[in-house]
Amino acid sequence: MSTEKTEDAAALCADYQMDTYARTATLVRGKGSRVFAENGMQYLDFTSGISVVNLGHAHPAIVDAIKAQAEQIVHTSNLFYNEPVGRLARKLSEIGLGGKCFFANSGAEANEAMFKLARLWGSANGGRYEIVSMVNSFHGRTLATLSATGQSKVQKGFDPLMPGFAFATFNDLESVKAAVTDKTAAILLECVQGEGGCVPASEEFVKGVRALCDEKGVLMLCDEIQCGLGRTGSMWAFERYGVKPDAFTTAKSLGGGLPLGALVASPALSGVFTPGSHGSTFGGNPVACAASLALFKVYEEEKIVEHAAEYGELFRKGLEAFAEKYDQVLGVRGAGLLLGLVLKEPDAAKVQEELRMGGLLVCVAGPHVVRFLPPLNMSEDDLEEALEMVGDALAVVYGEDEE
Ligand SMILES: Cc1ncc(COP(=O)(O)O)c(C=O)c1O
Repeated sequence: MSTEKTEDAAALCADYQMDTYARTATLVRGKGSRVFAENGMQYLDFTSGISVVNLGHAHPAIVDAIKAQAEQIVHTSNLFYNEPVGRLARKLSEIGLGGKCFFANSGAEANEAMFKLARLWGSANGGRYEIVSMVNSFHGRTLATLSATGQSKVQKGFDPLMPGFAFATFNDLESVKAAVTDKTAAILLECVQGEGGCVPASEEFVKGVRALCDEKGVLMLCDEIQCGLGRTGSMWAFERYGVKPDAFTTAKSLGGGLPLGALVASPALSGVFTPGSHGSTFGGNPVACAASLALFKVYEEEKIVEHAAEYGELFRKGLEAFAEKYDQVLGVRGAGLLLGLVLKEPDAAKVQEELRMGGLLVCVAGPHVVRFLPPLNMSEDDLEEALEMVGDALAVVYGEDEE
């Protein structure tokens, strides 16, 4: 047993980590839908680590896969082949676009790879380089991905932004048409915007974007980093619209909790990168890939995507009751288990804090939206307990008697 003195994590992080996050509790352990804090408090975790632990914390199949692979080999570098890496690439091809993938370590890096792919394709197809992205989108925090993000708060102070991105209005096809020029290489969208406020695209919009891409000969790119992997009740959010993009990105839960991202391409785009075009030291780490294979096995065995669709409807109905009860709750937005409670006033942080004190961890998506990202394998008890806690928190913030 370690004889090391227990240290104050919050103080250490405050003193030695840059001040980029607003943090609250110090978590020491997680099991299923619950996390346990150092002060003895336990929480129902409806953040899932911002949609990273879709099967809950410490899922035995993922823990076993990580242990087994760590005992074999932790890292090979991409100078060598490794079986879990190849098996995961095949899996992503089978459930993706039937082509090849590139592995990265995070969502932003997967998007960087997708932007580079679009530019390389565009340079060989008429010198096109521009990517049309959507207002209110979120694509990451690196320089290219924040330049592609349609939110000025993410971009502020980082000028000059990377050139080559144009913006259109989400769910407004005419505005996308107006943004496309002879320099456009691709149109980029999240089929359900997560950080932008849990906003689903309309069917007309997604189908219209696909048709526009076909007509103009440009690529359709989807960012599935938050809305993919079953989160919205289908494996990929684009499937809800009956369309296929030319390439998409996935990350967050892909590594079962370990850092892993991927750019997944159609067969037509699978040969655009050649040796030397792109690379990553850690991308496709064998332990993360083994964890990912275990995650997909559980998805199949336990019909996780179907469960997310079913529980998404149940949870939405439960949340909608609060919109009927409170004038200050305007409604529920999102899809599957990516749901936002939309508030009239900018009270999301206040409700979030009240929920935390009552034992439920949630995210926000802007000042007006309380965002719920529960584990996709949540139980009926989790659902009922969470709804009760939401009711309690709203009663504190808005009063009991509202009708
Ligand atoms: C839609 C979307 N794209 C990209 C990212 C960036 O992913 P990462 O934080 O892993 O770089 C996020 C993160 O929240 C996201 O929600």
